Amino acid sequence: MKRRDFLVRVAAAGGSTYAAMKALDLLGEPSPAAAQSGPFRLPRAGGGKRVIILGAGIAGMTAAYELNKAGYKCFLLEARSRSGGRCWTVRTGDQIEETTGTVQTAQFAQGEYFNPGPARIPQHHVTIDYCRELGVPLQVFANLNYEQYYYNEGVPGALAGKKVRAREAKADMRGYIAELLAKAVSRDALEQPLSENDKARLVEFLRTYGGLNADLFYTGSARRGYIAERQGAGDRPGKFESPYSLSALINLGFAGYESFEQGYDQQMMMFQPIGGMDQIARALDKKVPGIRYGAEVNEIRKTTSGVRVVYTQNGGQQEIKGDYCICTIPLSVLRKIPADFSPEMQTAIAGVDYAVTGKSALQFNRRFWEEDENIMGGITSTNIGLGTIWYPSYGYLSKRGVVVGYYNFGAQAEEFGALAPEARVQRALEIGSRIHPQYNSHFETGMSLHWPNIPYNLGGWATYTTQTRQQYYARLNQPDGNIYLCGEHLSYLTGWMAGAFESARVVTQQINALG
Ligand code: PHE
Repeated sequence: MKRRDFLVRVAAAGGSTYAAMKALDLLGEPSPAAAQSGPFRLPRAGGGKRVIILGAGIAGMTAAYELNKAGYKCFLLEARSRSGGRCWTVRTGDQIEETTGTVQTAQFAQGEYFNPGPARIPQHHVTIDYCRELGVPLQVFANLNYEQYYYNEGVPGALAGKKVRAREAKADMRGYIAELLAKAVSRDALEQPLSENDKARLVEFLRTYGGLNADLFYTGSARRGYIAERQGAGDRPGKFESPYSLSALINLGFAGYESFEQGYDQQMMMFQPIGGMDQIARALDKKVPGIRYGAEVNEIRKTTSGVRVVYTQNGGQQEIKGDYCICTIPLSVLRKIPADFSPEMQTAIAGVDYAVTGKSALQFNRRFWEEDENIMGGITSTNIGLGTIWYPSYGYLSKRGVVVGYYNFGAQAEEFGALAPEARVQRALEIGSRIHPQYNSHFETGMSLHWPNIPYNLGGWATYTTQTRQQYYARLNQPDGNIYLCGEHLSYLTGWMAGAFESARVVTQQINALG
């Protein structure tokens, strides 16, 4: 029996082709060590097989890029007039259209830009490897800056409506935790028996770690920053305020903020392409010539030996046939396209939710966050409807800057999304000026978007629950006939470009393994 026949039988019997391939060592996956030592390569030659790829976002272009290297013939259909999908940068003159019919045209100054989608890359993601391979220059993106604020209103305690520097909150919380533990240890209040020597060493560690005084009390420290006159020369030793109270910090929601910041993917120092996230898409699309733009998919059909896709381009209907189809269309859009998917596949495609999320960009003619508040990049977190406010990690010390006025999810995003784009900007300014009153005198121009309203996306990214991951994910990862789904939604890195890159590798390996 040929490899392909075997795999087709496994699939027909309801088994996992992917698992079977793995068992047969057909994926040709490089060893982890090898994966790090050079670009990804498909092991077998494609022999001119025709692959129709739906969507020229990161997943589709990467699949084409990898398959082209191995000698396949790829045909990329893209509904938009540009490549990149969510990997997108808006500059002056660019437009944001929503399904409600609104169109905004960016009025930013030359050199300013806005990344409506992906805007930060962790150091361990495969995205960085593709930037290296494609020659996309990167710069640091300050994701966690100790100068940024936590700003919550309506919380109990002294910190309601106060701009709390992350630095202050972190120094104080660490101090209190160290103090509590140091006292417990020195008073033998812990269950664990500790030798006198261990106790002394642990207490000394905690004293240093938390910035405690000789009596093991946390009374504040210069770690939380100086107030008023900063530390300097002559008669300026610097003064720091007494700490916030432990209960006020708990009430502020410190644990929630800090646990997000500690996420493996949410690193303190992240990266962004210089000049806008779309530099990644541009570098990729140079490698995959012949993308058919303005090509909207109408039907996805199985044929006896392959696939057939019907699409509209320039007002006329066209058809293309191939051996395989790699479909990167988001499930939120795919579920509305007539297709020959099996009933289980159709149910799985319909069953996965998409993130409700939105963003705004506000251009100011003065970098007051830098000039007045010493915030050089970073992200303020708040509970007043905005989610987060992002300060730019480029153009430091220059005249203007584009701030992300809100980036939020769920109910907060719904509230903004229900408004007209201009009204969202107004609301971002009104609410945001409670944190930065300078908004009122320095605003120049802004725009906003609501991802559920963006044509060809209809949502932010796939959001699996434990249940939908269990029910649908395995099915979505198996080909349906010769149709392979691909994209961030076919990964455990949903909401990241890395998910799209990784999925493109998986799917091209699956096809390549069939010989
Ligand atoms: N990658 C996106 C971000 O960093 C979306 C995301 C958020 C994905 C949180 C996972 C977790 O904002």
